[in-house]
Amino acid sequence: MEGLKFVAVFVLLALASSLASAFDPSPLQDFCVAINETDGVFVNGKFCKDPKLVTEKDFFYSGLNIPQNTSNPVGSTVTPVNVAQIPGLNTLGISLARIDYAPYGGLNPPHTHPRGTEILVVLEGTLYVGFVTSNPENRLFTKVLNTGDVFVFPIGLIHFQFNVGKTNAVAFSGLSSQNPGVITIANAVFGSEPPINPDVLAKAFQLDKNVVSYLQKQFWWDNN
Ligand SMILES: *[C@@H]1O[C@H](CO)[C@@H](O)[C@H](O)[C@H]1NC(C)=O
Ligand SMILES: *[C@@H]1O[C@H](CO)[C@@H](O)[C@H](O)[C@H]1NC(C)=O
Repeated sequence: MEGLKFVAVFVLLALASSLASAFDPSPLQDFCVAINETDGVFVNGKFCKDPKLVTEKDFFYSGLNIPQNTSNPVGSTVTPVNVAQIPGLNTLGISLARIDYAPYGGLNPPHTHPRGTEILVVLEGTLYVGFVTSNPENRLFTKVLNTGDVFVFPIGLIHFQFNVGKTNAVAFSGLSSQNPGVITIANAVFGSEPPINPDVLAKAFQLDKNVVSYLQKQFWWDNN
């Protein structure tokens, strides 16, 4: 009996720690500036640079004022500023992105961030934004945002932004991970490499197999 209890507690603890690791762990020192250790073993995050060699450059990035080219199939461009751009973000659980949208329909297509909640502020333009909750409700929350408006996309949920204005739109997003990750739904489902068996997608999406193979032949642009 005692043994069983011990096992139950152990399983609960293991579960709790695996749930907790869905988020960036808290740092255990002032900073742990990321450094490449190509020959090292993998760690959950990045290796730390020797603190004595750390400089202000490790915490700096420049150029987010520059509008990006949105002439692409979706009409939007994301400029991420995460641990890949600022090594000093390692272990700090936060990052940033600039998003540019073309006028008349620039779209940041439905996607999720597996590791981060997003808070977005519109600097310029008008965006129709939304996210969908988990099964079984799959409830859609939407809002039209204007300059100065802020919206939140909870961690892991599918969301999008669509420029419904006649001008360029620009937004900035804060994300609660040093490396929030992006899964663009259409790209992952219809553009995977190698392709998912068309029978799977035909049944899952209630589509004719010809439609599936048409979709699988498209080029799925990654705006990140
Ligand atoms: C690590 O290596 C990658 C690929 O070579 C490079 O893009 C990145 O800038 C490097 N990061 C650091 C912190 O040196
Ligand atoms: C934007 O990108 C498109 C497609 O790559 C290119 O044809 C165009 O010259 C670019 N525009 C600017 C202003 O760089």
